[in-house]
Amino acid sequence: MTQKKVALVTGAASGIGRACAISLARSGYQIAANYRSREAETLELLTELGPGEHKAFRADVTNAAQAEVMVGQVARHYGRIDVLVNAAGQFIRQDISAGDFGQWQQDWSQCLHLNLTAPMNLAFLVSKVMIQQQSGKIVNITSRGAFRGEPNAPAYGAAKSGLNSASQSLALALGSQGIHVYAVAPGWTETPTASPRIRAAGWEDVAAQSPLGRIGQPSEIGDLVAYLCSDNTAYLTGAIIDANGASYLRN
Ligand SMILES: NC(=O)c1ccc[n+]([C@@H]2O[C@H](COP(=O)([O-])OP(=O)(O)OC[C@H]3O[C@@H](n4cnc5c(N)ncnc54)[C@H](OP(=O)(O)O)[C@@H]3O)[C@@H](O)[C@H]2O)c1
Repeated sequence: MTQKKVALVTGAASGIGRACAISLARSGYQIAANYRSREAETLELLTELGPGEHKAFRADVTNAAQAEVMVGQVARHYGRIDVLVNAAGQFIRQDISAGDFGQWQQDWSQCLHLNLTAPMNLAFLVSKVMIQQQSGKIVNITSRGAFRGEPNAPAYGAAKSGLNSASQSLALALGSQGIHVYAVAPGWTETPTASPRIRAAGWEDVAAQSPLGRIGQPSEIGDLVAYLCSDNTAYLTGAIIDANGASYLRN
């Protein structure tokens, strides 16, 4: 078994997942970097992470069989899993007043599967390893949309709200086994995927949604996740951390 702690980060090739991998590596974690399709970006990330036994693991997290194989591979390779960060996710736009019913059903099912079922499947699988260790931390990346409604993406808002609730349930269910569970709820964060949507919504208007007058950076979410996964949070579990510059309170 490796001596250094191990963090499995999903969606590690880009955006918030990538930033979490970087911050956790700086904090001394070895990174098991999950990706679905962006192999080249993931290999670049491993180089950027520098020394340490960082490794890429391909799996579509919505595919339960692939998720199970991946968790088995990570556990066998390192002999331990100390942290799971569920960052893979996607905002899916929906228009209740204009779309057709078939599309509506497809979007609901795809959105809930990726943003709620898949992270909980991984939590189930990884918790088996953590229970054996009697320690571990699970961080689920949710969204400001869980609190304030998503009129153009109701399934996304519902999925992230469900993920907040599921995080609290798992914190209660797993606390006695030494496992801490958190939800981190970003607002607009300047990732490659979100930036075009921020531009379309009007950069200044989006920045003004926060009393801090700016948009969040992926590294700020990564550093928060690394803090949650540090030794300084022994009495913190079941918390939903608002990481959106109070923008959800303001609007
Ligand atoms: N950016 C924001 O403003 C913002 C705000 C609130 C919450 N969030 C949440 O933060 C998380 C990351 O968002 P982001 O902006 O960083 O997005 P991003 O840059 O698009 O990253 C999402 C990552 O998830 C991966 N992914 C998607 N589906 C997957 C699947 N089925 N299996 C494995 N990996 C999959 C993608 O990899 P592939 O491309 O290879 O599939 C991609 O690397 C998401 O959960 C999102 O809902 C973001």
